[in-house]
Amino acid sequence: MEEHNSYSDVTPEIVRLAELSKEAGVIDTELYTKYDVKRGLRDLNRKGVLAGLTNISDVRATKMVDGKSVPCDGHLFYRGYEVNDLVEGFHKDHRFGFEEVTYLLLFNKLPTREELAEFEKLLIYYRSLPTSFVRDIIMKAPSKDMMNTLARSILTLYSYDDRADDVSLPNVLRQCLQLISLCPMLSIYGYQAYSHYHDGNSLFIHQPMTEGSMAENILHILRPDSSYTPLEARILDICMILHMEHGGGNNSTFTNVVIASTGTDIYSTVCGGIGSLKGPRHGGANIKVAEMMDAVLEETGGYEADDSRIRQAVRKIMSGSLYDRSGLVYGFGHAVYTVSDPRAEVLRACCMEVAKEQDHMKELDYYMRFERIAKEVMEEVKGKALPTNVDFYSGFAYGMLRIPRDLYTPLFVCSRVVGWVAHNIENKLYDGRIMRPAT
Ligand code: COA
Repeated sequence: MEEHNSYSDVTPEIVRLAELSKEAGVIDTELYTKYDVKRGLRDLNRKGVLAGLTNISDVRATKMVDGKSVPCDGHLFYRGYEVNDLVEGFHKDHRFGFEEVTYLLLFNKLPTREELAEFEKLLIYYRSLPTSFVRDIIMKAPSKDMMNTLARSILTLYSYDDRADDVSLPNVLRQCLQLISLCPMLSIYGYQAYSHYHDGNSLFIHQPMTEGSMAENILHILRPDSSYTPLEARILDICMILHMEHGGGNNSTFTNVVIASTGTDIYSTVCGGIGSLKGPRHGGANIKVAEMMDAVLEETGGYEADDSRIRQAVRKIMSGSLYDRSGLVYGFGHAVYTVSDPRAEVLRACCMEVAKEQDHMKELDYYMRFERIAKEVMEEVKGKALPTNVDFYSGFAYGMLRIPRDLYTPLFVCSRVVGWVAHNIENKLYDGRIMRPAT
């Protein structure tokens, strides 16, 4: 056997074994039809199979017309409330909504003023890491991937929890609320450590605020001078609300529920969700969009490029000759929505507001032209229109908020962890069986 040069070498022997496993992996496609196999848990029309029920949220993409189900604009409901209405209400009243929506998702009702105040106090109380956790865990061997860093930190919290394996409801709820409060700190401190040790930037570890919303706290601990404008904090709050929950069928929530159904601890469960969300077809798409748009900008020669150059770039992406060769135009397509993703609609409007305030209209206009042209090209090539999804504008919004790219997907975790834990608890109460398909 040849000697390894480095930890990540793929030796010729491994390449040979990979070929062997490729041959071993081939399954006759006819067998899928013979046994009526739901590949990727989808039916023949690619619609997801129903594997559970939930009261937490509802994702609607069709409506009944003359007794027939037809595609329509997407709608997302959190416990019966349309998410766009919730966001509009918070924005109009100039107040933060993340904490209120967390309460709604977990407890199936909007809190009274007093209940909300108590709940916010509890979330702030849990904004505290075990003694020396930052020094002993986060600063050690920082990974270049912030999702892995976050998962590692969460797994390590297990060792600091005397009741880590207690899956009784009060204990799990306590752990869930702690994780919701800690995710931003674990993500941002992990990023600061990497940025310091790998990129030579100054190290900032700001203590969390002892008051204020989740969004304000994130900007406070992230920014070197801890400053932010009220609009920036409110836009971040909206982004977080839009990412909190998306039914039981999205990959990371499903993963989370599958893992939780074994009776394992919440730290392992949430880390499973993180592993799933990291994927470029799921939450990791927000970083991919930003990188893809850099490639498109370079390819087209800048923001003033005419439509034909943008069209050419989209074609190149789809043919696998531009960007990551996957053929995917990131930020488009969705497993449920076919006409529009309501979250993308809200985010586009938010981007408009911040872009006007911060003089980024040239960039936003380019994104919007790309969006229109990409949809036209995808319809030509795929024969069906693909909607703009939540990830197309979220990275743009984060960019304007000066959030480092490495933190885009961890920020998604900071929101979606609420949905994960809500489903985790719901499943414990209503099902309790170990999940396993027959395969
Ligand atoms: N770019 C190019 N082609 C796409 C596409 C995209 N963004 N999204 C879907 N397609 C293609 C599929 O490959 C498929 O082609 P095929 O019929 O030749 O195999 C066809 O369009 C239909 O796909 P569909 O069944 O509607 O999508 P899906 O449910 O399999 O996948 C996603 C859904 C989200 C995984 C997929 O749209 C995707 O990978 N998008 C890009 C990544 C992204 O933005 N993810 C964030 C999701 S919120």
